[in-house]
Amino acid sequence: MSFTAPYSIRHATSSTPIPKSQAKEVNRGRRPRILLVTPEISASDHLAKNGKPAPCVKAGGLADVSALLFDSLAESGADVHVAIPHFRSLFQLGPKGHSRRLHLCQDREFSYRRSVYDGCAQSNLRAALAFQRDVIHYVMPRLQPDLIHCHDWMTGLVPAAARSMGIPSLFTVHNLHDERDSLGHIEDRGIDAARFWENLYFHQYPGSYENARNNNSVSMLASGILAADHMNTVSRSFLGELAGGDHPTSWAITDAVRGKLGAGRAHGIVNSLPSSISPKQDPHLSHRYDASNHVSGKLANKLALQRALGLEEDEEAPILFWPSRLDPVQKGCHLLADMLYRLVSDYWGLGLQVVFVADGPYRETFEGIAKFHNLKHRIAVAGFSESLSRLGYAGSDFMLMPSAYEPCGLSQMIGLRYGSLPIVHSTGGLRDTVTHFDPQQNTGNGFVFEHYNPQGLRWAIDEAMRFHMRPQAERKAQVSRIMTQAAHDHSPASMVDQYMEIYRKLLQPQSA
Ligand code: GLC
Repeated sequence: MSFTAPYSIRHATSSTPIPKSQAKEVNRGRRPRILLVTPEISASDHLAKNGKPAPCVKAGGLADVSALLFDSLAESGADVHVAIPHFRSLFQLGPKGHSRRLHLCQDREFSYRRSVYDGCAQSNLRAALAFQRDVIHYVMPRLQPDLIHCHDWMTGLVPAAARSMGIPSLFTVHNLHDERDSLGHIEDRGIDAARFWENLYFHQYPGSYENARNNNSVSMLASGILAADHMNTVSRSFLGELAGGDHPTSWAITDAVRGKLGAGRAHGIVNSLPSSISPKQDPHLSHRYDASNHVSGKLANKLALQRALGLEEDEEAPILFWPSRLDPVQKGCHLLADMLYRLVSDYWGLGLQVVFVADGPYRETFEGIAKFHNLKHRIAVAGFSESLSRLGYAGSDFMLMPSAYEPCGLSQMIGLRYGSLPIVHSTGGLRDTVTHFDPQQNTGNGFVFEHYNPQGLRWAIDEAMRFHMRPQAERKAQVSRIMTQAAHDHSPASMVDQYMEIYRKLLQPQSA
């Protein structure tokens, strides 16, 4: 789908007048100008300048999805821009500056940070307000976008500001995280919220501006959902779960999502993976492979993985791989920690090995289990590195994602492409992308458990082990079927087409 057709452009009604030169351009019916506002972005091909890679600010999947969306929109001909905080110590810009499509928001707060989010809610909030102040008061009036696409709580005030300027917006929820603040404090941080306070989501109904300022609080995430013209989550199931209040969020978020769903302005759009993430062309692997030669390809990578991590070199050993950050709230680490020793003991004869390539608070727990039981030749715990992680997908037979909730999840999609079959909890994007394996029907692509407890996970791992013990020819045919399907699923084009469909609606004069 191309985005070069002349769409009708609405005029922004900001207090800052449109400069004459730009107004002329608007009247000529130029391509719509889209501004993505995101706290994270991986190195985008289209933002690289003079051979210097583009900045990369990454805490999780949001960064990868932002870069993929930016690049796919740029390739389709859209006049796309992106605003991010200028985290000076996280990336270096080339001497010749950076792409004109990259808007770096300035504040001392960003100068010394070592990560996008740190453990302190107050400091994250300060960063979010500084970022949004720059977007609202500097980037938006200067750039005059025709449409704004915001991502997650750190951008939650922007849709209300956009509404006050007559600019349509889309708000994407990638995760449940939220922060609250008083209107008074938001204003003290330099954001002129008096002109858009009525579009924010307050803890208590404020009635008047004075009440809004004091003894009340604004939910950033709920405000983004409420004020945007459309919202979406990164899978259909997660949207339903948010509206159903299935997860530990505030009522504000459930209520805002229900409002948007009721108005027909909420969608679920599953993330996608770049086509370059493929075992056929991955430079990190010891041997490249595809669906047709995966048995020998995966075996070579298994041995390389075992060697790299000091595990027993055993061609027959089934390997379970944990790729995602060891976050105790979201990722279900305790489900595995509760029974890891028992699991390895029960499958001792089969040679079962478990590999973690991930950072996070639970890393020490898993290291402790391996050390205490003297199992370092069966359980390997390594910090995250892109190359080891890719080797993990290629060398393992199964990957684990027992998340309590998962808005979308990218790791299970990578696992499918690399022939590492996902073992997942039936939630959010995992439910939408993994179906339980049924060898009789020749259907399914993983092992899915419903009950979120160690027994549920253990049941799914046992199912996977049963599959592993099937004759080699049968396993080969099934993994080959799954990899062939996965090579075509979740392409960037399918995701971008769906976003463009919403952009088109928002750019129609009557839509907002
Ligand atoms: C967050 C979610 C994850 C999602 C990613 C990108 O990291 O936890 O499920 O895939 O954002 O949308």
